Amino acid sequence: MEKILVIILGLLLTFPSIAARKPIYKDSSKSIEERVEDLLSRMTLEEKVLQLNQYTLGRNDNANNFEEQVHKLSPEIGSVIYFSDSPELRNSLQKKAMEESRLGIPVVFGFDVIHGYRTILPVPIAQACSFDPELVEEGASVAAMEAKKAGVDWTFSPMVDIARDPRWGRVAEGYGEDPYLASVMAAAAVRGYQGTDPSDGKHIAACMKHFVAYGASEAGRDYVYTEVSRQSLWDTYLPSFEAGVRAGAMTVMSSFNCISGIPSSADSYTLTEVLKNRWGFDGFIVSDWGSIQQLRSQGFVSDKKEAAMASMNAGLDMDMMNECYDAYLEDLVKEGKVSEARLDDAVRRVLRMKFRLGLFEHPYVEPTKYMERFLLPEYLETARRLAEESMVLLKNDGGLLPLSKPSSIAVIGPMAESRFHHLGSWQGKGTGEFVVNTVAGLKKRFPDAQIVSAQGCDFDGGDRSGFEAAVKAASEADVVFLCLGEKNNWSGENASRSTIALPAIQQALAEEIAKAGKPIVLVTTSGRPLDLHLLEPLATAMIQEWQTGLESGNALAALVSGDYNPSGRLAITFPYSTGQIPIYYNHRQSARTNQGFYQDIPSKPLYDFGYGLSYTTYSYGKVEVSDSLITKDSKIRVRVPVTNSGSVDGTETAMLFIRDPYCSVVTRPVKELKRFSRHEIKAGETYVFVFELDPQTDLSFVDSEGRRFLESGEYDIIVKDQIIRLTLK
Ligand code: BGC
Repeated sequence: MEKILVIILGLLLTFPSIAARKPIYKDSSKSIEERVEDLLSRMTLEEKVLQLNQYTLGRNDNANNFEEQVHKLSPEIGSVIYFSDSPELRNSLQKKAMEESRLGIPVVFGFDVIHGYRTILPVPIAQACSFDPELVEEGASVAAMEAKKAGVDWTFSPMVDIARDPRWGRVAEGYGEDPYLASVMAAAAVRGYQGTDPSDGKHIAACMKHFVAYGASEAGRDYVYTEVSRQSLWDTYLPSFEAGVRAGAMTVMSSFNCISGIPSSADSYTLTEVLKNRWGFDGFIVSDWGSIQQLRSQGFVSDKKEAAMASMNAGLDMDMMNECYDAYLEDLVKEGKVSEARLDDAVRRVLRMKFRLGLFEHPYVEPTKYMERFLLPEYLETARRLAEESMVLLKNDGGLLPLSKPSSIAVIGPMAESRFHHLGSWQGKGTGEFVVNTVAGLKKRFPDAQIVSAQGCDFDGGDRSGFEAAVKAASEADVVFLCLGEKNNWSGENASRSTIALPAIQQALAEEIAKAGKPIVLVTTSGRPLDLHLLEPLATAMIQEWQTGLESGNALAALVSGDYNPSGRLAITFPYSTGQIPIYYNHRQSARTNQGFYQDIPSKPLYDFGYGLSYTTYSYGKVEVSDSLITKDSKIRVRVPVTNSGSVDGTETAMLFIRDPYCSVVTRPVKELKRFSRHEIKAGETYVFVFELDPQTDLSFVDSEGRRFLESGEYDIIVKDQIIRLTLK
């Protein structure tokens, strides 16, 4: 033995380069691809399989329990969903991975940071109403910073599913009905989470979900079948994902739904052919929670082993909580049912992400004090601005708002004093304790006013015992804030509703309050568009507040006092009533344009996509187009001067739509949003919005195989109510 040691020592002294040489994968001067290949070549089959699994770590705040779980986890595991906010605990598991695993591969810690980690921002559907991608990006970067400091490297966000059925609870989590707006927001969120250098210790990996067409769930029920043609897959559901891939999203999550007969978690067309091959996505695909083993319930496979095989062969790389890959992948490879090449491809993708995140160099998170990592004033400032920009002024009869100096205000309704229900679903580590509720916000903004609150009734049920006190408060006030809406868990996952109207008790309360004859500001808090047609006639002013997070009360107070001039625009249509669903602006033209409507309700929605009022007025000057006779290679320049013709400063969002009146390949939507831009315009001043369009991308369309085509002929550019006809040679 001694002899051998002497020989080794002798060799090391003779050839010092042997001693100094470290494996390529540990050498940060090498390229990521070289490191990935080197590491992959050293891994056993078992180690490879473990990289493709994600378990959970903790589901509550019991630290002892966590410790136990850390012990239970294999040091070779690929990823965990990290429910704790303790960097120390994360570091202890990471230490195990770095020191006890054979190759020292770090674990990647994921968590659902959907609209903020501790500093809760507006729900994504509300953020989309800001039409402000820069601010959405800033919000995502705040979320990333807090999450990273808590030990999270990877968020399961943004959700970029197009949703056109507000009965579906998950409309709250996405950016609405329009593929273009959702694409812009998807890219913004990806940039915000990942930054330009995702390994800088301030950013985390994004995960676009749910791939794909989950938002088309039949009748808004969750987890169900989706009937999606290849055409609408390409023109409606895929573009937001493609935009996020172009922005560099490191991961994608497969969805629960079955797309026209093929479950998406086993669909090689979307997972491999489109995402990986056509778009060149080099990150990895994680399943949704249990979506591999659920292939059994969907009737696609008979057992978990077949499920593992179907998903893996379709291109799904990591198993989130299915117990399929860990149990069966090794055997499947040995039996030749999953190729080694496919296994290596999946592992390569996971390792690539870990290298990109810098986890090999910086596996640990620096422990900081609670006060240093969460709820910093600058984070709350971002949350407030985003909340202000998200709220939409729906009605303002007689210019009731802004309120100048109200001497008495009654704040009535189940949302009047609620904190928790402002958070929205997926509230990360946010708690109601830090929410500024409506009463608190108004009291701060109007310190001299007498402000009384009365709940009146609960969110649902039939208890009218609070009505009397509420009506008394209303009759004694100058103005009433009627704060109605949805509980937190009425939207989000597994939170579909058969009606988007508020429960009868809230309508009844509104009717009683209206009898007091005082001006009513109706404030609605929800994660979905509501049926407001019966409430609208009772209100003088209306604000769709959404679930706007910690700063809700401050933002609402800024709006109603005029400190912030409302600028939010609806990112999703508000139907007249539930029976109108589905209704969205970019539908196809019907065969009879003036017939075919429901006979018992209006044909128009209550509020259109893009709708939203301001305290000022904007008058649009003549739209000018650089040339109305264009070629496929022309660049089109569109200018429109917009004057703030009112007496207060404001921010206007100009929107440019296009329309192809006739198309011989496939019929096209009646209009398609192609550009938008928001700009502050001072009272009396004019701002000229300038948009550049490229016919190849902006006038073209896709066929049912995703092939882009551009026909010669006529196109319309639509800005507000002006239509400019172009002819493409
Ligand atoms: C949801 C995903 C989420 C995952 C992990 C699933 O049930 O559909 O959106 O990211 O759970 O929590």
